[in-house]
This record gives sequence, C-alpha cells and structure tokens, in this order.
Amino acid sequence: MSVPAAGVRALLASATERLATAGVPSAGTDAQLLLAHAWGVSVGELQRRQLLGEAPSAEVEGRFTDLVDERMTRVPLQHLIGSAPFRGIELHVGPGVFIPRPETELLVDLVLAELGGRPGAQVVDLCTGSGAIALALKHESPSLSVTAVELDPLAHAWAARNAQLLGLDVEILQGPAESALPGREGRLDVVVSNPPYIPVGMVPIDPEVRDHDPEVALYGGSDDGLRIPLAVARRAHDLLRPGGLLVMEHADSQGDSLPNALTRAGWSDVADHQDLAGRPRAVTATKLIE
Ligand SMILES: C[S@@+](CC[C@H](N)C(=O)[O-])C[C@H]1O[C@@H](n2cnc3c(N)ncnc32)[C@H](O)[C@@H]1O
Repeated sequence: MSVPAAGVRALLASATERLATAGVPSAGTDAQLLLAHAWGVSVGELQRRQLLGEAPSAEVEGRFTDLVDERMTRVPLQHLIGSAPFRGIELHVGPGVFIPRPETELLVDLVLAELGGRPGAQVVDLCTGSGAIALALKHESPSLSVTAVELDPLAHAWAARNAQLLGLDVEILQGPAESALPGREGRLDVVVSNPPYIPVGMVPIDPEVRDHDPEVALYGGSDDGLRIPLAVARRAHDLLRPGGLLVMEHADSQGDSLPNALTRAGWSDVADHQDLAGRPRAVTATKLIE
C-alpha cells in the first residue's frame, strides 16, 4: 500500500512537528534524512521522488515512523542512520564511538596547511575515535603516512572498520595515547588530537551527547578538563621531531588555559585558532629545535 504524493509532504510535516515537540534541533532536516534512510535513497533522490509524486510504501512509512519515534527519545540521528559525514568522507558510527563533529574538521585544515602534500610526511592522530581525522587526512592527502591510536576497544573496532570500508591505508592501533608508538620517538612531523576535554562534573546539556557519546570520549580527567589533553601533549612532544607540530582541539572555555599550559611546558609558537562560528577551538604548538 502507498500513500498519495501529497502524503509525503504531510508525512514530513507531521514528523517535523513531532521531532520539534520532543526538542530535537533541526527537526525538518532530521525528518528528511530519516525518510530518505527509511526509503534507502539520498536526500536529493527523496526530493526528486517527492517532486515526481512518487509515494513510499506502507513498509517504508512504517520504518520511518519507528525511526522518528526513536529520534524523539533523542537517540542521535547518526546512530539511526548509521553514519556521519566528515569532510569528504562518510564514517560508520553507532553505540560505543564518539560521533565526529563539524568543528573538528578545522584540525584537518591545520595539519594540511602545515604539511601541504609533502610525500611521506608522518602524521599520528591520537584518540582517533571513529578514525575521523586520520581517515580524512589520508583521503585528502594520500601521500601522507598516517597512523591512528585509540584506547577504547569498541571505538578502535569502528575506526578499523571505517578504514577498511573506505579502502584507506591507515595504521589503526589500540592502546593509551600516553604511551603510544614506543620506538618512534623523535620521528613524527605532526601529532593531531581531539582528546576528551570536558571538565569532570560538567554534564552535557544535549541528551544525544550525555546519554550516547561514551564517557571515555568526553571527560578530560580533571576539574579543568586538561589532565588527559596535557598527558597526550606530553607524549606528542616525545614523538615529534624537533620543529614538528602539535594540533589539538579544546573546549571553547580552554582557549587561554590550554595554550598557556603548553607554553609553560616548553612548546614554542603556541597559537590558538577559531572555528567557523568564531569560537576558540584548536591550538597549534611547535616542538622547539634545540
Ligand atoms: C572526543 S573523542 C574524539 C574522537 C575523534 N578523534 C573525533 O574527533 O571524532 C576522544 C576519543 O579519545 C579516546 N580516548 C580517551 N582517552 C584516551 C587515551 N588515554 N588514549 C587514547 N584514546 C583515548 C576516546 O575513546 C574517544 O574515542
């Protein structure tokens, strides 16, 4: 059984209203993405079918209603769809892995600005989660030699699967960033990291983050959230060659505290960078050439 073409619009309108009532931000966009997913097509194709007056079957409509019901309980859209876009790639995500955020795309720009396409330059992504930064770097600059390190076994499995599905030759290792890559000290050109940095005790407002992003991906291990980031930076310092670059994301409230801590720790050329919304979100720092 299918609903009439006007029913597609009505289906989207009613889902948008239900999602908005449940407090879902971007309710209209989510409704479109969920209907496209339930129908097994892209949003562009969904819009084309709507224009042509094609109607979804009762089965598709049923799947869509179930997805909207779940989204109303604030299950992340990306978990329902099973993927998240990051720069030019699509990453598989689900329970047990941090959903990559648009603001993290800035880190890839900062790494590429440093290295250009320098063949064979060695980059490590510490705390890789889904593999977002490492895989985007390899996708955009195939001549880079890219390694990724992740502590959590579930997240590591998502990253390994993403590398395989995308066909990208990135080494994906499991273990703590703080002791990563023994034997490779002093060799790397860039260490990039989006570590956990939320101050302990701070509870994220959005239920999608609070209830679905793994705690190990969120909390920085101290009241200021900087214990883990600074431990990661210490290991980055060991691993970089003199003159090598650290690129690290931080909370917008850490735009002074993290750069200051890195300067105190002996890094040079410490600079902070803003995201597209003008918030301080990433720091770069160079390992001193003795
Ligand atoms: C904020 S998430 C970032 C994930 C990914 N880099 C991104 O930008 O989407 C932080 C990640 O660090 C991992 N992590 C936490 N502590 C770690 C540690 N000590 N060593 C390595 N990875 C760690 C978490 O499991 C999580 O996947």
